[in-house]
Amino acid sequence: MQRRTFLEFLGKGAAGYLLVPGMLGGCRQQAVNPAASAYRIKPLMPSVADELQLAEGLSSQMLIRWGDPINATEKFGFNNDFTCFLPLEANNSEEGILWVNHEYVDARFVSNCPSLESKTAEQVHEEQLAVGGSLLRVKKTAEGYWEVAPNHPLNRRVHGLTEIPFNWPEPIAGSRKAIGTLANCSGGLTPWGTILTCEENYDQFYGEHDPLTGAFKLSGDDQGWHRYHDFPPEHYGWVVEVDPRTGESVKHVALGRCAHECATVHQLSDGRLVVYTGDDANDEHLYKFISSVPGSLSEGTLYAANLETGIWEAVEHSRPELREEFADQTDVLVRLRLSAKRVGATPLDRPEDIEIDPLTGHVLVALTNNYPKGNYYGSILKIIEENGDYAALRFSHETYLTGGEQTGFACPDNMAFDPRGNLWFTSDISGNKLNSGPYAALGNNGLYIVLREGEQAGQVLQVASGPVHAELTGPWFSPDGRSLFLSVQHPGEYSESAENPSSHWPDGGNSMPKPAVVVLSGPLLDELSASMA
Ligand code: FEO
Ligand code: CA
Ligand code: CA
Ligand code: CA
Repeated sequence: MQRRTFLEFLGKGAAGYLLVPGMLGGCRQQAVNPAASAYRIKPLMPSVADELQLAEGLSSQMLIRWGDPINATEKFGFNNDFTCFLPLEANNSEEGILWVNHEYVDARFVSNCPSLESKTAEQVHEEQLAVGGSLLRVKKTAEGYWEVAPNHPLNRRVHGLTEIPFNWPEPIAGSRKAIGTLANCSGGLTPWGTILTCEENYDQFYGEHDPLTGAFKLSGDDQGWHRYHDFPPEHYGWVVEVDPRTGESVKHVALGRCAHECATVHQLSDGRLVVYTGDDANDEHLYKFISSVPGSLSEGTLYAANLETGIWEAVEHSRPELREEFADQTDVLVRLRLSAKRVGATPLDRPEDIEIDPLTGHVLVALTNNYPKGNYYGSILKIIEENGDYAALRFSHETYLTGGEQTGFACPDNMAFDPRGNLWFTSDISGNKLNSGPYAALGNNGLYIVLREGEQAGQVLQVASGPVHAELTGPWFSPDGRSLFLSVQHPGEYSESAENPSSHWPDGGNSMPKPAVVVLSGPLLDELSASMA
């Protein structure tokens, strides 16, 4: 990688801000040192145990679980996904604010509601408070344990009833603000230290309008909130920016509306932003936004990827393909799935998390699977921007890694690079398909590492295995690489009932399963980050 491009890739410093981004969220603050490690990882064998199993050299501690109070009036939400550690000062790896996404609910556990038909307005209210995100003031104690500072003024919730304005000159479905954020799956970090939280499967809550006919329709995973609230579906499916100091939030219309998995930000040397985001559904698309103004998430152009031609196609109302069918640019962005198809975007196998490889500068996109197309194992796609320029409108692509029995993983989802440039990623085999059919040999969902140096370089090594029906999500490193924040999402999701759960993680015995955030540490992380000191 050319030095100029590499330096540009490292991004802008955030000096002057109280909070500085960790280096692994799309905005790097310091150079990556790929020096070889003598550490040899002994990978885990696939497991079906109802435990969080870890490879030798790793240990975990519980940080917070669903229902834990974070202050006098608010609780940690359900189904935690994206995590993002924001140091309180540059490179402080022991104190900061942790943002955690809360994606969706399991009504049997969250509101004690066994059937959709019987759900009351009060139960919907309880569920609305369980999605969105949590801000937590966290620190490492002298004994080396991470804890959430009890009742800290920075502890707060953003949830399904928080009023959030749109950052856009026109109203969206008649309003300049939305009630709530929901379906918060993965996310990203801005160069100025705010969180981007992405609204993914929003149609579970208030339904959706068919982009062609306008007919109201419900998701197969409908939660029934629309029965008690007439919030427009168009108010959801956005990338939402949250200020971790205040909880103030805004929905960025310019990034388009779809089932956003994540938003990965890169700052160009002239201060403009490039944001990559994928629409996680079968045959949906990969997008990138390029701002026309330094630091703007509202002024610029949204592009969709055409992999056949290697062209980023502008999703702009001025194009002849869009002018007739769409009223204006607001309509183009609200009905993004349709407008992207009209400009030739390539259907992909569920684009999930996106990370920029700190060693090569390539853009990695997890393509989790596409069952109707017979793709059960998924892959990781590599996008190579022309001349290493993230603002380029041309690119080439290759497959970086393919899932399967031979590589030992399936359905890649979240990714993170550690400070040495090793790739860590999680898997998301649907709970009802785990340990059967094509996945019979793969065990529960896990966490995997691909080392970049040494004799194990390039191999996929499993380093964690999740509890029954869980998915490990949101891996995020402290700046020193010695702490790895990790969500354990939806343990026991395919339980027969709340009374007879398939998982008792984390409390064991006959307890109800609880999504939770853990912190991994230990000699393996110490060794992998040793040259950082
Ligand atoms: Fe919420 Fe695409 O995973
Ligand atoms: Ca995901
Ligand atoms: Ca990530
Ligand atoms: Ca997933």
